[in-house]
Amino acid sequence: MITPKTAFMVPYRISKPYSLRSFLLICLIIGIFLHIRSYLFQVISSEAAYISNTVKASHPIEKLILQNHRKHQNFLNRQSKTPEEAIKAYRKRYQRDPPPGFSKWVRYALAQNSTVIDDYDMIEERISPFRSISSFDLNRRIKAWQESADAFETVKIRDGKFVDCGEQFRNSIEDIVDQLPDMDLLLNWLDEPRIVGYDHLRDSNKVTMEDFASKDAWEILSGKCHFSSQKKMKRDTTTKVKYVEDPKEALDICSHPEAWNQHGFFNSPSNFRATRNVIPFFSTTSMSTMADLLTPGLDYVDWHYIGDAKTVDNINYTDKKPQMYWKGWSTGSWFKETSWKRNHRVRFIEKFRNHSMFNIGFSKYVQCDGYCEKLEEVVGLVPIDPPTTGFEYKFAMDLDGNGYSGRYYRLLLSNCLVFKQTMFEQWHDDRLVPWVHYIPVSLGMEELESVLDYFANDEKGLRYGEQIAMGGKEWAKKSLRPIDMTIYTYRLLLEYAALFEGGAERRLD
Ligand SMILES: *[C@@H]1O[C@H](CO)[C@@H](O)[C@H](O)[C@H]1NC(C)=O
Ligand SMILES: *[C@@H]1O[C@H](CO)[C@@H](O)[C@H](O)[C@H]1NC(C)=O
Ligand SMILES: *[C@@H]1O[C@H](CO)[C@@H](O)[C@H](O)[C@H]1NC(C)=O
Repeated sequence: MITPKTAFMVPYRISKPYSLRSFLLICLIIGIFLHIRSYLFQVISSEAAYISNTVKASHPIEKLILQNHRKHQNFLNRQSKTPEEAIKAYRKRYQRDPPPGFSKWVRYALAQNSTVIDDYDMIEERISPFRSISSFDLNRRIKAWQESADAFETVKIRDGKFVDCGEQFRNSIEDIVDQLPDMDLLLNWLDEPRIVGYDHLRDSNKVTMEDFASKDAWEILSGKCHFSSQKKMKRDTTTKVKYVEDPKEALDICSHPEAWNQHGFFNSPSNFRATRNVIPFFSTTSMSTMADLLTPGLDYVDWHYIGDAKTVDNINYTDKKPQMYWKGWSTGSWFKETSWKRNHRVRFIEKFRNHSMFNIGFSKYVQCDGYCEKLEEVVGLVPIDPPTTGFEYKFAMDLDGNGYSGRYYRLLLSNCLVFKQTMFEQWHDDRLVPWVHYIPVSLGMEELESVLDYFANDEKGLRYGEQIAMGGKEWAKKSLRPIDMTIYTYRLLLEYAALFEGGAERRLD
């Protein structure tokens, strides 16, 4: 790509007959030309402004966009191109050899054009606490779970074949099951996390399940945190609008003592059956303080969630109304007199439903027996729209329900700019970049109005909004494919299997 800088770096020779005056004049003309050109360049070519590192960010949001764009470029450029490179990168990153079967995995991922080869820290973070537990003890924990828990299945793989396995999971790894070592794994049937897992010392022969449905779950979820000093630090710095810079930090329960008051899962989950035991257990979602191993949410493959030919977005971003759209059901908690105001969906709608830039509301009340009428009175009821109505708006909000939101990929694949608020960790967290593929929203939402104003009214913000909307769509098409979930799960299962044989010491294949 030719930037104004490189375009004018052709050797410029001044031959003798020119006087100093004409030389200076030429310099001046070139200078003016460059200046005008770079000005026009900034104003006209937003694509170039996006890419050029020389443009000075004039708005804190622009700064975040440019910073994260560079980060994402580095991410793309550093991915390994061969198994040898990937092994080297793995050793460098984790100071140990990769698990057996890794080279084959790399070849498979490369053959499928996986955009991500090296960056699977999500897997590492979740697997590593289990490395300190012996194979013998892990097996005992799995048995203990099987004997006393519910809403799960045990997937067994023997000689490269499934012995026991539900259809969804089977479909997702059917292609590669013959590459996997023998293993047994516990798969969650619920779309909530289950393993609070702080108790490494707890008797591993027995699993104790606790039911937090419609109870306060904050205490158990934040039990690992030391809040007092952080709370003080926070109070000192909250005068300016604070945009979400690091989504991982935003998901961190221990960094957000105020969150207990802001999310339905913390104060009255509709369903939450969890254990403090440390169990190697695969769920589609988890929280920062929890210990579930993360598999992709396979419902994202279902057309109900990603849409079909009838729900393709044909509206150009520039033609969409500059408003935020969200309609949905009142999920996210079990509603009670004492806690309904602390539900994240209610808070969002209450806060913005009368705002001219928002077209949002509940279209149906659920999980509120004996209390739905009162809720409707306070928060309002909107008609149910067809699934494509949201495409008429530039800004699509996506927020948690009882678990993670199933509409996320459908929104990313549209031409809308996706705003994402969540407290649930998912398999894709490493690969979706804030301010490049989507706009992160804090649980408090104090910054939301200012962010919308930037993308709706700022001259550069209008163009950046389109770039992020379209960039997110392109990236989702390349990196959130069903095959990407297979590639991720394949690698996860190699790491998981290696836990059982002292993976750290094993030789490379
Ligand atoms: C990978 O990309 C190459 C080059 O664009 C293409 O020819 C090939 O069909 C792709 N393979 C898969 C499995 O998508
Ligand atoms: C949307 O419209 C703009 C302006 O008319 C145009 O430059 C752009 O290419 C269009 N984008 C798509 C995806 O059609
Ligand atoms: C929003 O508008 C409704 C209906 O006009 C009104 O009853 C409600 O009090 C308003 N809510 C807020 C937060 O202003």
